[in-house]
Amino acid sequence: MRKRTLLASAIMAGGAVLTAAVAQEQLPTHLKELLELGMHPGHAYVDEGREMFHTPGPNGKSCATCHGQDGKKLEGAYAKMPRYYKDIGKVADIDTRILACMTKYMGYDKNDKKFMKKFKKWNGPYRVPLASYVASLSNGMRIDVKLDDPQEKELYKMGEKLWYMRVGARDFSCGICHTVLAGKRIRLQGLPDPVKNKVYAHWPAYRFGSDRMWTMEDRVRSCFKAYLLYTKQWSKKDWVKKPPPFSDWVIALELYMKHAANGATVEVPGLLR
Ligand code: HEC
Ligand code: HEC
Repeated sequence: MRKRTLLASAIMAGGAVLTAAVAQEQLPTHLKELLELGMHPGHAYVDEGREMFHTPGPNGKSCATCHGQDGKKLEGAYAKMPRYYKDIGKVADIDTRILACMTKYMGYDKNDKKFMKKFKKWNGPYRVPLASYVASLSNGMRIDVKLDDPQEKELYKMGEKLWYMRVGARDFSCGICHTVLAGKRIRLQGLPDPVKNKVYAHWPAYRFGSDRMWTMEDRVRSCFKAYLLYTKQWSKKDWVKKPPPFSDWVIALELYMKHAANGATVEVPGLLR
């Protein structure tokens, strides 16, 4: 926690410079220096995830029981995700896969509202720390999303379509901001091109702006906030801010972007302004 405080003061000192940075390669000098000193605040999440990985669940099993001490058997797994899993009969991203393992194999209960709330929370003990830790086990490896399975192919197509499809009350698409307007600014924020720039290689990422770690689920769902999605009719009461977590909309877009990042080297946690 001490690391985060130090960093927070560094951010305040350099706030004006920070708005100019988009991707981690363009971090301002003093933050690059923090990195060189080994002060990446995202590492706190990875450490927390490592601890949780070895902590037994309600049925006495831990992640390590099946996936090996220090996640030995999961090295490289994240580089190939999202992918289809036979045991759950669907394509899963890292968040969804962890939830499936906890509820199917460790005795956690999907119908327990308290558990689910804790699981979804960005500052909860499970999803974000575990995803950060498991992703870090693929560091240095090349992203290699295959699209062999028919379900993977189908979801990929859906992701590509969703990227350009105009939806919601604002008639927006991911592509308007991230393909058409890429490189330009929106409310002082530079717009990256997540497809062309293979940004998936640095996700999950720690964002200074919100002082927390995000998985790609969080990033995609948060970008959806710009849309004003409506579920049934165009009335405020049916207004939803984002698609539900672990839903096909989210995983399809992740699959599309991760496939576009094939060949890039996983380097997580990322660090963004
Ligand atoms: C009782 C055994 C068991 C436990 C405990 C368990 N898992 Fe799994 N896990 C599985 C099985 C089975 C699969 C599916 C393997 C496959 O199809 O390749 C899997 C798959 C995964 C994958 C994807 C691996 C890949 O090669 O793509 C990840 C990541 C994962 N588990 C993480 C976790 C985490 C994190 C925990 C602890 C919260 C956990 N698992 C607990 C059995 C388990
Ligand atoms: C209204 C414009 C807008 C729309 C629409 C939008 N985004 Fe974003 N997106 C942003 C902004 C602004 C950022 C943050 C840039 C930053 O942090 O510097 C961002 C960041 C991202 C990033 C992280 C980029 C990086 O550098 O790592 C991803 C991935 C992303 N968006 C995906 C999506 C997806 C998928 C959709 C469609 C569901 C979408 N966005 C829709 C504005 C938008």
